[in-house]
Amino acid sequence: MISRRLALMAAPVVTALAALALVVPPAADAADAATVFKKKCAPCHGKEGEPNKVFAKQGVRSFKDAEWQKATDDAQVEKSIREGRKGTMMASFDKQLTDEEVTALVAYIRELGK
Ligand code: HEC
Repeated sequence: MISRRLALMAAPVVTALAALALVVPPAADAADAATVFKKKCAPCHGKEGEPNKVFAKQGVRSFKDAEWQKATDDAQVEKSIREGRKGTMMASFDKQLTDEEVTALVAYIRELGK
């Protein structure tokens, strides 16, 4: 009895999860990007992509800034992440991140601007 009830209860959950997997295939990537961003980027760029005053004064742009989002294409964002910005505190993250993480971070930064 119990197992049957459990199975009945689990069925919609399984269905929902399967549907979710179909609708949002990059869910894992997005979650990873959020984690990586929080760990490696948020100290300077802020949790939501908005730097605190100290970092804003050092030229860290808010990723929520619509003007910046418009003026900066994905390739530029990727370049900044991979190569860093010479003469600033923005270091190169090329060796610390996988290609997938870099791609996911670019998408994540775009999301922050929405
Ligand atoms: C130690 C502080 C620090 C950390 C950590 C850091 N950044 Fe930065 N970042 C900066 C600074 C400072 C700038 C501004 C550089 C400039 O003035 O050009 C910057 C600039 C950028 C830019 C370019 C913005 C523009 O104006 O085009 C991107 C994209 C970026 N960071 C992404 C990231 C990502 C993604 C991470 C995490 C993997 C990260 N940063 C981690 C300090 C940091």
